[in-house]
Amino acid sequence: MPLVSMRQLLDEAAKGGYGVGAFNVNNMEQIQAIMEAARETQSPVIIQASRGARAYSQDKFLYHLMLAATELYPEIPTVLHLDHGNSVETCKSAIEMGFTSVMMDGSLMPDGKTPSSFEYNVDATRQVVEMAHAKGITVEGEIGCLGGIEDGHGAGLDGLSHLTDPVQAEEFVKLTGLDALAIAIGTSHGAYKFTSKPTGETLKMERLMEIHRRLPNVHLVMHGSSSVPKELQDVINQYGGKLKPTWGVPVEEIQLGIRNGVRKINVDTDNRLAITGAIRKVFMEKPEEFDPRSYMKPAREAMKKVVAQRMVQFGQAGHAGDYTPISMEEMAARYQPVAV
Ligand code: G3H
Ligand code: 13P
Ligand code: ZN
Repeated sequence: MPLVSMRQLLDEAAKGGYGVGAFNVNNMEQIQAIMEAARETQSPVIIQASRGARAYSQDKFLYHLMLAATELYPEIPTVLHLDHGNSVETCKSAIEMGFTSVMMDGSLMPDGKTPSSFEYNVDATRQVVEMAHAKGITVEGEIGCLGGIEDGHGAGLDGLSHLTDPVQAEEFVKLTGLDALAIAIGTSHGAYKFTSKPTGETLKMERLMEIHRRLPNVHLVMHGSSSVPKELQDVINQYGGKLKPTWGVPVEEIQLGIRNGVRKINVDTDNRLAITGAIRKVFMEKPEEFDPRSYMKPAREAMKKVVAQRMVQFGQAGHAGDYTPISMEEMAARYQPVAV
């Protein structure tokens, strides 16, 4: 089946009361790992590419790898999503390339560092909604700023500096007409999210619930949702790495989020850790190896294991065959206001 809209996946997830992981990719092996995990667990999937990933893969390589994925795994509903678009222009280029979902992250200015005003965010997101919905493409927006920096994008703040204001969130959804809303509840991108296991002081699940109470029909998105498991950190350190002790978002907290309106869960770091650990292990144990397949295969397998585990934990496993994909044309028609 062709790439499908994210809106349909999230609507189905809401009906079924489950969440869908959105996994970042940069190359063939990561796409293969996700598609294999999806087949094994019979899961619908969201594959996402950051601006950095698009540059790394010259955009076109990534897009054609995604087309290969849809040919080789026709039974899996698959979304290609732009992660953290920094401007209307970036979203436009992703739409032109064939992405079926885009994130306009107007929580920061186009420099990707400076927290923006509410008015700027509404205006940029609204423009992307108009452009995307005309083609049936889904739009994710963000209100509040996450901690950390990714791809040079991020204010470098801690996770608590710009939490989402629930009243503003309600207003933002009304003014933009977006499909999915990313919120800031204390998480950060990358491996160093929390210096100890998060508590209600550092990971604000109460705030998420308050946003869900105000916006019960809006698909919420949790960014910075890697769990940074100790086992993955240990493999890296055992084979010569130097990660400092750190904590991620416990899977039980994500599951609590899923019971409270979270439908999309962004995970990149856990896969990066799994890949790096597997490669380090081969380098350390078999220093005579120099065929890239000797370390890329175990790396791909390690990522597949993490993704399959998350698919089961988020509840999307077993749902790949639940529904018939809606074409992008039909999605576009559904977004058109009904004439009176
Ligand atoms: O936040 C998302 C991902 O971790 C993207 O990372 O921008 O370095 O590709 P990247
Ligand atoms: P992690 O760094 O926690 O994996 O978050 C990824 C993310 O939010 C991508 O947008
Ligand atoms: Zn993110």
